[in-house]
This record gives sequence, C-alpha cells and structure tokens, in this order.
Amino acid sequence: MRLVPKSIFARIALLIAGLLLINQIITYISVTNYVIRPHWQQILRVMSTQVKFVVMDLENELPDDVSETYMQTTGIRVYPYAVAVQQGLLQARYYQSLTQLMARYLEAKTDVLIQEGDSQYLWVRAPKHPDKWIRLPLANFQRNYPSPLIIYLTAIGILSVLGGWFLTLLISKPLKKLQFAVRELGRGDVPGQLKETGASEFRELTRAFNQMAHNIHQLEEDRALLLAGVSHDIRTPLTRIRLAAEFLPDELKDVRDDIVRDAEEMNAIIEQFIAFVREGREEPWIWCQPDQLIHQVLESFNEHDRFVQHTRKLAKTKLRPLAFKRMLTNVVQNALRYSDGPVEISTDHDKHWFTIEVRDHGPGVPDDQIERLFQPFQRGNTARSGQTGSGLGLAIVRRIVAAHHGKLSVRNHPLGGLLVTISLPLSNHSR
Ligand SMILES: Nc1ncnc2c1ncn2[C@@H]1O[C@H](COP(=O)(O)OP(=O)(O)O)[C@@H](O)[C@H]1O
Ligand SMILES: [Mg+2]
Repeated sequence: MRLVPKSIFARIALLIAGLLLINQIITYISVTNYVIRPHWQQILRVMSTQVKFVVMDLENELPDDVSETYMQTTGIRVYPYAVAVQQGLLQARYYQSLTQLMARYLEAKTDVLIQEGDSQYLWVRAPKHPDKWIRLPLANFQRNYPSPLIIYLTAIGILSVLGGWFLTLLISKPLKKLQFAVRELGRGDVPGQLKETGASEFRELTRAFNQMAHNIHQLEEDRALLLAGVSHDIRTPLTRIRLAAEFLPDELKDVRDDIVRDAEEMNAIIEQFIAFVREGREEPWIWCQPDQLIHQVLESFNEHDRFVQHTRKLAKTKLRPLAFKRMLTNVVQNALRYSDGPVEISTDHDKHWFTIEVRDHGPGVPDDQIERLFQPFQRGNTARSGQTGSGLGLAIVRRIVAAHHGKLSVRNHPLGGLLVTISLPLSNHSR
C-alpha cells in the first residue's frame, strides 16, 4: 500500500495536518508542564493543610464547636470507608501524580481520587487512619462537551483541507496551463507564448518552456523548408525529363513509356514527401460536408467498380479539407493497391464523433507489423512485389488524424482484409 498520496492537494493537506498535530502535542506538553502542574501543586498544598486540620480533628485535638464550624464553612466531610462508597468513592478516579504530591505535603501515606459528576470532589485517604476518607469539595469547573480533543482534531482537519486546497490552487493553476501547452506541443501544434506570471519558480519554468517551444517550432520550420526546397528542386528537372521523353520517336515507345511511368512515380513520391512534411497544419479549418470530400476522393480513383459504400449522411463540421482528402486518399489507395476485390467504405456518426471505415479483402498485415508500418519509410511484405510507394502513407494518415484531434485504428478484420477506422470529432462539441 502506498502511504504517500498522489495528488499535490492530498500531500499538502497531510503535511499541514501533521504539522498542526505536532504543534498541538508540543502545546499540550508545555501547558501541562508549565501551567497545569504548578496549578495543581498550589491546590494540593492548600488542601493538604486542610487535610492536616481534619486529621487533627480525628485525633480529637480540636474543640467540637471549632471542628463543626470548620466542616460547615469548608464543606469538607469525613466518612468511614463504607459510607464513602455510598457517597460515590468507587466512581472516583485514582491519580498517581496527585497521590505522590499529596503524600509529600502530608509526609504520610495516602491515596488521592477525583470524583466527577454534578459536583466534584477530591477524595483523600486520611493519613494514619486508613479506614477514613476525607472528601473535599472542588470548585465546579464546567466539563466541556464535545471534548477539547475532538474540537482540536476537527479544527486541524478543516484547516488542513482548507490550507491544502488554497495552496494547491496556487500551484495547480499555472501548472495546468503549462500542462495544456506541453500537450499541445506534444501533438505537434504550436502553443502560443505563455504569460510569465505567478511565483518566481513558475515564471522561470514558463520562460524555459516558451524558449523550448520556440526552438522546436524553429527546428520544425527549418526541416519543412529544407525538405520542401529539395523536393521542389528535384521536381523541376523531373518535369523536364518527362517532357523530353514525350518527344522520343515511336520506335522507342517502350523506353518512352518506362521513363514517363518512372517520372510519374517519382513525382508521386515527392508529393508524399511534401505532404508528410506539411501534414496540413498550416491549412485553415473550414466548415465542410465530409460526405462531399469522401465522394471527391473516391471519384479521383479509376477503379470505381471495386468500391462498395455503406454511408450515412454526415453533418457539416470544421476540417482541413485538403489534409482530410490526402489522408483518405492514402488509406483508400493502400486498400486498392494491396488487395484484390472489393473495398468497402462505410461512414457513421454519433453525437460527438464521425467515423470512416475502409476495409479491403486482401491479406491484411501481420498483427506485430502494424505499429512498425506507421513509421515513415516502412513498407510491408505486401509491398515488396514491385508496388511503388514511399512508405510514408500511413505516417501521413496518422499525422493528419492527430492534427484533427481524431482517433485512428488499423487492424485485421476477423474475416480477412485490413480494416482502417478513422474517428474525428464533430465541431460543435470539440471546438
Ligand atoms: N490495406 C492494406 N493491406 C495490406 N497491407 C497494407 C495495407 N495498407 C498498408 N499496407 C502495408 O503497409 C505498408 C505501409 O503503407 P504506407 O505507409 O501507405 O506506405 P506505402 O503504401 O507507400 O508502401 C505498405 O507497404 C503495405 O505493406
Ligand atoms: Mg500507401
């Protein structure tokens, strides 16, 4: 079992409770030693002289009228043991420390008990007359209910929770903001500069975070620029090669077609490169009809007869349409490429999400390979047989789904073929 609680709130509350409890114990010890004990010493000293007086009376050293007046004014009574029991001696509590003190003052053996109740009494066993009990009235001090201990403990509890709550609030607010920004950064978004507020530690942390976010963003931009630049510079000569090939004479038709096909393939790969780098984050969100975008994607393939659609009408939602189409194109293209037979496209939605499923009837992918194929430039066995591709498709799909705050699942259908499920949030509820 873990003894230290997890949340900051619980830890601070526990700490405060501990400190208050220690404080209480120290207070208790010092009050007992420096206030209560001297107080009782004084009381017992006074009472011991009274007891001495009574003992003198027991030994008939006092005139009767004096002893009677004395008993009347002080309220002190002397009982034999049996009567003392009737008067409540057995309900009284024995006090070791008081007994010792009293014995010292009386210079004789005795016992001291305190009886509590409607009226309170100090019982003292008469020295030299062990069968006689002297009952001295104590000033009635009101017993407090609920007891001080319960009040202390409740106060400690309440104070700790309040203190913990307040301190947590102080800490967690800036932490929450930071946590949110870190998550955004983790998703690949660019969080705005956080305001440096609060305690100096938080200011420094925020400053460090801002710096880091800035650097990452810069790095990302440099990388994108580099890749886009290289891709662009390769594309231009590629177009020239392709154009030049078109002018080859008909006797070289085979060579010409090869060159044209290769050039087109390279062009497609470069396009994937650029798509991978861009991943549509700079594209603005636009209200779109997902059905329309899906339709456009399917139209762009010339294998219409393989599509089987089970679609439901989807509500308008905010998307990055170009990225969305690129994502779906990659999934559908994989399904067409790596399987024969029908490719099923279904859509559905609930209150917060809409879902697109693409399923083929091909060999699928071994379960332990699926995660690997999401990595850039990773291609599977299905792709070895001369199929062209960059190995970037699924990586692009994953990034675009993430940029839409969606969920992606790729698994083998129990009845064969690969099933790709993309769920994206519907706008009103997510943004
Ligand atoms: N529907 C599918 N059926 C079987 N294998 C697939 C399917 N989709 C993807 N794959 C495998 O995953 C690999 C990675 O896909 P992808 O990232 O799109 O790259 P590429 O298609 O350029 O090879 C492919 O090479 C292929 O082996
Ligand atoms: Mg692909």
